[in-house]
Amino acid sequence: MVEICIIYDKVRFEEKALYDKALEKGLKAQMVDAKTITVSTDSKKSDLALGDVIMQRSVSHYRGLYLTACLEFLDYPVINKFNVAETCGNKLVTSLVLAKSGIPTPRTQFAFSADSAMDVILKTGLPLVLKPIVGSWGRGVFPLRDEETANMIVEMREENDSPLARIYYVQEMIDRPPRDVRCIVVGDRLVTAIYRYSAENEWRTNVARGGKAELAPITKELEDLALRAAKAVGGGIVGVDLMEDKAKGLVVHEVNNTVEFRGAASVSVADIPGAMVDYAVSIARK
Ligand SMILES: Nc1ncnc2c1ncn2[C@@H]1O[C@H](COP(=O)(O)OP(=O)(O)O)[C@@H](O)[C@H]1O
Ligand SMILES: [Mg+2]
Repeated sequence: MVEICIIYDKVRFEEKALYDKALEKGLKAQMVDAKTITVSTDSKKSDLALGDVIMQRSVSHYRGLYLTACLEFLDYPVINKFNVAETCGNKLVTSLVLAKSGIPTPRTQFAFSADSAMDVILKTGLPLVLKPIVGSWGRGVFPLRDEETANMIVEMREENDSPLARIYYVQEMIDRPPRDVRCIVVGDRLVTAIYRYSAENEWRTNVARGGKAELAPITKELEDLALRAAKAVGGGIVGVDLMEDKAKGLVVHEVNNTVEFRGAASVSVADIPGAMVDYAVSIARK
């Protein structure tokens, strides 16, 4: 019997749903707190006894990423793989991978000093969007609409202690309806797609920002793009986010590694955790 291990650092709706679903399917399952695991260069797989397949669900990007490196060192199959987590966890790398794979994505410019970031911003013209290259839930994603604010935000970023804050990711502002599209891709299957409508007085559509979920129709174009984007980053279980540009049509703006699906599960008829658990079993059996 396959044993699934769900690694968490904070138990959310998603981790509980995955654990319950595994038990419901008659599998063995355990939940392990990432904060309690230690690994050494001498460790053996059997020392940890984490079952046959690991679902890495840490909220902290770096904790999840480096713990995954250790677990792969011990030959555990981990969803998602280290390389996938590393690509998806970084918006700059993701944008490069998407562009290289010919997937429509917002035009994004990268600068490596405050001065060159301001040059890019002024040459391109506002509005633009400035994002941290590592981050989620819309944190630090700024719509830049006037030069004064742009200057202040870039100045703030330059004074930040984190070296990552001084890498500038400047994206065209997509002329879109007050929503985006979240696609939940599991392996080579698009399980569900939802619109996320931004809350009142909020430009970002993240559910963490009060965004409201509504079922989205799965068109051939949407399915094709979502599956291509998932494949481009290396596959696994991912959330592919797209925007509907008035001129260009669908563009993929990010691929999420530890995908949240509370919003999607509230409106979708698809069994999202069920699809994820089945996928984990298929990986364990490989
Ligand atoms: N280029 C853009 N044009 C218009 N809206 C955007 C753009 N980039 C991001 N947004 C809005 O901001 C939200 C958060 O941006 P995103 O890149 O997804 O960062 P995060 O990883 O923090 O969710 C998106 O879901 C979307 O609603
Ligand atoms: Mg997002």
